[in-house]
Amino acid sequence: MHPNLSFEQAPPISVPYRFFLTAPWFGIAAGLLLLVQGDALLVSRWAPGTLALVHLVVAGFMLQAMCGALLQFIPVATGGNIWRPHWLAALVHPLLMVAAGLLVAAFLAQRPGLFMAAGYTFALGLGFFIVVVSLAVWRTPAQGATVIALRIAIAALLVTLATGVTLATGLAKGLLLPLPPLADVHAAWGLGGWALILLAGVSYFVVPMFQLTPAYPAWFSRGMPWALVAVVGIWSALFPDFSEPLRSIVLLSGVAVAASYGAMTLHLHARRRRKVSDTSFLFFRLAMLSLLLLLLSALIPLFWEDERITVWLGVLALFGVFFSVINGMLYKIMPFINWLQLQRYYGTRGTQVLPPNMNQMLPESRMRIQFHVHLATLGVLLLAVWVPVLARPAGLMLMLDCGWLAFNLLQIGLAYRHFKDRVPEAA
Ligand code: HEM
Repeated sequence: MHPNLSFEQAPPISVPYRFFLTAPWFGIAAGLLLLVQGDALLVSRWAPGTLALVHLVVAGFMLQAMCGALLQFIPVATGGNIWRPHWLAALVHPLLMVAAGLLVAAFLAQRPGLFMAAGYTFALGLGFFIVVVSLAVWRTPAQGATVIALRIAIAALLVTLATGVTLATGLAKGLLLPLPPLADVHAAWGLGGWALILLAGVSYFVVPMFQLTPAYPAWFSRGMPWALVAVVGIWSALFPDFSEPLRSIVLLSGVAVAASYGAMTLHLHARRRRKVSDTSFLFFRLAMLSLLLLLLSALIPLFWEDERITVWLGVLALFGVFFSVINGMLYKIMPFINWLQLQRYYGTRGTQVLPPNMNQMLPESRMRIQFHVHLATLGVLLLAVWVPVLARPAGLMLMLDCGWLAFNLLQIGLAYRHFKDRVPEAA
């Protein structure tokens, strides 16, 4: 086990679990939207339905999972002290759910009032979350690449929030803002700054720990987040004039830095101490390969311009990279939290019985089936960008994929209850 874990700092299990168990439902909603609206969502990135779909994934699925993970990860992995995690989660979790719902409704109905309501609710819920977790990661005495990456990611989340609220206000009040370039800045901070840097920071810790690889080289783990945030900074400095060829050069540099993280992780995978390929590992691998494919695909617009290529890049980034890696991480993090909490609980009961190990929380075969469903869903989603008739089946498959994930995660949550209730007999 990793030497630097502060187990005693772990928050109550209900804190991260409410976020983790909610996340897949936003994926189910995204699938439903695609099933209902079909190919209209895969034609242009600016269609209202497409923006709704994007935010069901980024501000629903991803944000829920990542906020929950941070509340667990910051105290346990960095020793950071989160102020009253129970209260924070009780307040932030419903606010983020409502805010994401309002934003999606705003895109679909194009109602100014809904855009304003979404903006205020996000500003309140996410703003409060950012303040509390920032205090924790800035005050922790821990040092190292993971803490630095977390700090950068949280700062990037703040920029994403600020630009997102500005965009929503601009749309609500009909302000004369340069919306597409501002949305490009917002998207870069959201996906490149917040999501990818957080993912890298967490990987530095969990990949060697759970996948038994050597550590990421120090030059890489320290350099990659700074390189990425520098590219996102240069991208923002182009605002509002994103003219060619500068736009393509900066975009490609950002994707290349992102892909270097994929390549490095695959390189570490090749040097694993034990060649066990569990489902979580397969999800991780899929995400890293998607990052490499993303780099190849980002070259296409240099030779051939088509709005669908942008949509293809979006599908690959959201469902190939982020969705896969979060799915894989949840399959490791939740059994690990179960084990951690059970070990503590068994300790307080004074029993000699050992808690069940992580593999006993959910049969591997259940996760493996969902991985195959996810793989097929990703394939059909990517095809649907070019073959319109596949859009609705892709929506249905996405619902199945996320529904299965929701079911599996619930089973892991119930396994905790089950093993906890069995202790008194054992004692
Ligand atoms: C939390 C993480 C977030 C991420 C990763 C994110 C990501 C994105 C992305 C990738 C786009 C471009 C969509 C496309 O090209 O199809 C976008 C657009 C947009 N986002 Fe977000 N977003 C986030 C949060 C928010 C929040 C909190 C708000 C507002 C309250 C918001 C409001 C908007 C608006 C209004 C647009 C579209 C602007 C337009 O129509 O020109 N986003 N976002």
